[in-house]
Amino acid sequence: MHVAPTTWPEMMGENRKLELEARKLKIGRLRLIRRLPSCARYRLVEWRRNDAFSRSFHRRRKVNIILIGAQGSGKGTQAEMLSKSLGIRHVASGDLFRKAISEGTALGMQAKTYIDRGHLVPDALTNAMVLNRLEEPDCKAGVLLDGFPRNIAQAEALDNDLQGTDRTIDGAIYLEVPRDVLLQRLSGRYICRANQHVYNINTRPPKVAGVCDIDGSELYQRSDDQGRAVQERLDTFFHETIRLLDYYKQYHKLVAVNGNQSIEQVHEDLMKAARSLAGE
Ligand code: AP5
Ligand code: MG
Repeated sequence: MHVAPTTWPEMMGENRKLELEARKLKIGRLRLIRRLPSCARYRLVEWRRNDAFSRSFHRRRKVNIILIGAQGSGKGTQAEMLSKSLGIRHVASGDLFRKAISEGTALGMQAKTYIDRGHLVPDALTNAMVLNRLEEPDCKAGVLLDGFPRNIAQAEALDNDLQGTDRTIDGAIYLEVPRDVLLQRLSGRYICRANQHVYNINTRPPKVAGVCDIDGSELYQRSDDQGRAVQERLDTFFHETIRLLDYYKQYHKLVAVNGNQSIEQVHEDLMKAARSLAGE
């Protein structure tokens, strides 16, 4: 019996297998695909559409997408995959702050006092840091913004900064996840020292405990994932950051994606959302 592939690498394998099988039977791939059960056919067609879209996306210029989601909704996890699929730079304000803290810079030391308590870092510091980052050459082809903007003042600062330039925000994607699931995810999260790759002891464990699969660096639990800071951050999101949804609905485009599904399914839905923001 044919089993529908569920993960991205499985899907790539499935696509390759079909090509080989069609060649062996000396029939076209399409004829072979028509013989598959409907759920397998649907997933394969979707995969092929997303794959074709990623390829055309790589050739485009200056695509700028904002990922909005509560703490633990999977912004970092998904942005890593999505930015690779779309060939654009992942810029995460939280990662920039953590890098500054680990390097012991003045910005890092200032930001640390807010981050450890689960508070937002003041807009003046945050805006300057992120807007400067966007000026760097590797961001010119487009960016996937994760964690910025986080309030209306930051969104306005970003729009003002882009005014008069040849860059625009194509739209925002909201990753929606219920609060109880967020708490569960944050309590099991570990990230790596070298590059902040994200793991979860319950849902996405590393191959070797305590070691990053990708760069071999040590895994640690973020200081703001412990104690009172977690609730503070979620409160800030649901009272303040959530207002960005109306902002992006009003001035740009907004697409919502259900983030309470498997990592692979969320990725697939995010690709669809990116397609719709790009007008395809
Ligand atoms: P930041 O680093 O941005 O943290 P955050 O917004 O609190 O978001 P998280 O990183 O906690 O969540 P995420 O959505 O990335 O989830 P993840 O993919 O890791 O900011 C840190 C601090 O910096 C802020 O509190 C603030 O002080 C400051 N700051 C940053 N930006 C700022 C700004 N603009 N203004 C002012 N201050 C700012 O996933 C979470 C876990 O879930 C992982 O373990 C993952 O493996 C797991 N997971 C992910 N997806 C799934 C899934 N589909 N199923 C099961 N498990 C999953
Ligand atoms: Mg993150």
